[in-house]
Amino acid sequence: MTTISIGFIQFAPKLNNLASTIQTLEQLFQDYVDPTIDLLVLPELGNSGYNFPSPEVAWVSSETVTKSLFIDYLVGQAEKYNLHIVSGFNERSGDKLYNSAVLVGPTGYIGRYRKLHLFLNEKDFFEPGNLGLPIFDIGQAQIGMLVCFDWVFPEAWRVLALKGVDIICHPSNLVLPGLCQSTVPSHALMNHVYVITANRIGTEENLTFTGLSTIAGPTGQVLYQATQTNVEVGLVDVDLSEARDKAITARNDLFADRRVDVYGDLVS
Ligand code: ACM
Repeated sequence: MTTISIGFIQFAPKLNNLASTIQTLEQLFQDYVDPTIDLLVLPELGNSGYNFPSPEVAWVSSETVTKSLFIDYLVGQAEKYNLHIVSGFNERSGDKLYNSAVLVGPTGYIGRYRKLHLFLNEKDFFEPGNLGLPIFDIGQAQIGMLVCFDWVFPEAWRVLALKGVDIICHPSNLVLPGLCQSTVPSHALMNHVYVITANRIGTEENLTFTGLSTIAGPTGQVLYQATQTNVEVGLVDVDLSEARDKAITARNDLFADRRVDVYGDLVS
């Protein structure tokens, strides 16, 4: 057994108000986080909020990964509690914005993923991701990241699983009621990985976010599901050896039994 403690913080980042978001997080870390936790996931666009009224607001609420109050704050918490944190991040790079997820640990910023599949109006603000599907070694586990609407593309989950991740961290701002949250356990099952979907709550103008942040395990089990509306920190101890075993039956293996000879259309 290789047991680690994983979880999410479900809350409402404040649109274009990073100081307020950090104040909220500060209280949540104080109240709920301790050094027994190894990995925490926060929602999509944690530093900025989601429903930008204009490209200007998207721009002024973005940060670069090298100069970010939000990343500095998260690194401080990671150092204080000796854990790793993944969060959605409105990333500025040159004159472009990306809907990214960042990974930080006790020694600082580690890396990022840029959302590949942009949802609805996100296409007005962000460039599609251009960094592929990186994986990261956090010591006890290999992790990968997807962001929200990526959930509906099974290829992305499979690529991360084939690269050897134990856990897929999935910062989200879900608005379609319950669809993703009921599908994520199937992605976990079909790839024998753990999934942490950290969704947000609250409303921004015409969008209501659907909560129900979910931690799912390699046999498709829902290990934790938050409420639809409450601020919540969900924590579960998981055995990583379950994610490393790809056997489905005594004579079936998720990876070895794949018929790659007939899957060519997937990449055409
Ligand atoms: C979404 O991708 N934020 C729905």
